[in-house]
Amino acid sequence: MSDYLKQGIIYGATLIGVTAATLIGITTFTKLQHPPITSVQRGFRGTAIAQLYDPAELAAAQAASKVPRSLPPASAAGVKASVAYKNVRVLGNLSVGQFTRLMVSITNWVAPKQGCAYCHNVANMADDANYTKIVARRMIQMTQNINGNWQSHVQNVGVTCYTCHGGNPVPKNIWFNNPGPESAGGLAETQTGMAHPTERINYSSLPYDPFTPYLEQDHSIRVQSTTALPTDDLSSIKETEWTYALMIHFSQSLGVNCTYCHNTRSFGNWAESSPARVNAWYGIRMVRDLNNHYLDPLNSVFPAYRKGVLGDSPKVYCATCHQGVYKPLFGVSMVKTFPELQGPPASPTAAVEPPAAAAPTAPAAPTPPH
Ligand code: HEC
Ligand code: HEC
Ligand code: HEC
Ligand code: HEC
Repeated sequence: MSDYLKQGIIYGATLIGVTAATLIGITTFTKLQHPPITSVQRGFRGTAIAQLYDPAELAAAQAASKVPRSLPPASAAGVKASVAYKNVRVLGNLSVGQFTRLMVSITNWVAPKQGCAYCHNVANMADDANYTKIVARRMIQMTQNINGNWQSHVQNVGVTCYTCHGGNPVPKNIWFNNPGPESAGGLAETQTGMAHPTERINYSSLPYDPFTPYLEQDHSIRVQSTTALPTDDLSSIKETEWTYALMIHFSQSLGVNCTYCHNTRSFGNWAESSPARVNAWYGIRMVRDLNNHYLDPLNSVFPAYRKGVLGDSPKVYCATCHQGVYKPLFGVSMVKTFPELQGPPASPTAAVEPPAAAAPTAPAAPTPPH
């Protein structure tokens, strides 16, 4: 056998080996979606605004989002909670029956394993010693604010504690300010998140924290220039990357493609977008309101172990409520039989700790951009 032939056989065998290993790798490590995939047209014909569903995945998500049955409503008659109890500052208008029903429901939604003692000093229910009770009181007002002032987003479906908590004291999807990995600084400094893929933006090599500028601060989510020549438009490559990172979070949180909201021919064009994009626009403003007026001001109440590396409060984003579904709990409304959570908060400035910083401001009626 000539040397050339031997070498050829060795190369050939190696090639076959590598190809087989790659194929096995691909089938093992990627989730290939097999047909049928359902396509639903959601925009005008010809705009390519179609939504692709994998029926098997959809069925699995539906099975995972079980809605617990609500307790039967209690009578509004009888002694008021404000009279019966010592330290009721938000729910005083409820009858004792309604109040008790809500306490039991809250326990089921937030602390089913831990029970009343998760928030209460059971030797003295009026005691506010546990930080969890102070947070919970504020959460009741936050829920009333969402349902009462943000119908532009939650419509009449609304939310209860269960929407975010789903039976856990700490909701599954929360976020903190993220300073990113330590870097050497100087020329080696990279703030862009390149080569630092994170799960929460689908392992893309985009900025790891698009949430602080857009869902806590109110930076403008715009990358497309509206004029042909540069004017005072400061849109940059950096802002484009931040925007795309945020948009990937939107898609992931709702379990949808970009075309659920956009006509990808022109991302910025509202006239060609689907109505869901307007809903999302209000959602962004609602999330900013929740973070700025409820979670951030609770900073002094949360213990250090609940805070982020920078000492900031845990925060809400789209995934906190949506959890991979286009409408939380597939649009089932749990708040219908809980008028006390429908809000808006009766006395937004009720003496609830921490008083000064926490007073919620009614959100200014937002108008969708054109
Ligand atoms: C997730 C936190 C949380 C859980 C769990 C919880 N509560 Fe409460 N509870 C509160 C808050 C907050 C208040 C104060 C409400 C207000 O100020 O309007 C309160 C107030 C009360 C009061 C009034 C006490 C007083 O004299 O001021 C009673 C009674 C009570 N809860 C009973 C219960 C019972 C019984 C359970 C268990 C079935 C329970 N709670 C579970 C948060 C909780
Ligand atoms: C929009 C989402 C959302 C809704 C609705 C919501 N919560 Fe929360 N809740 C949060 C977030 C975010 C936190 C911060 C998580 C943490 O404490 O680490 C939190 C924290 C809490 C905590 C503190 C838990 C701990 O161990 O630190 C309690 C208690 C609580 N919520 C009770 C309630 C109650 C009661 C309701 C309904 C009246 C409610 N929440 C509704 C998002 C929500
Ligand atoms: C749930 C709806 C929704 C989904 C899904 C979504 N977007 Fe967006 N997108 C919006 C909204 C709302 C804005 C405008 C935000 C604002 O003005 O505050 C926006 C803005 C943008 C912009 C800026 C447009 C401009 O005016 O400069 C781009 C680019 C963009 N999205 C791309 C994407 C991409 C790429 C995806 C998929 C990865 C995506 N979007 C998924 C709702 C969505
Ligand atoms: C407090 C919980 C909560 C948060 C946080 C939240 N949403 Fe929603 N969202 C809802 C509820 C409830 C509905 C259902 C309302 C309805 O029937 O249209 C909804 C509906 C939507 C819809 C309409 C879906 C459709 O098919 O009509 C879009 C789009 C959407 N949300 C996007 C977002 C985006 C983007 C964010 C983050 C910026 C966000 N939401 C944050 C509760 C929330």
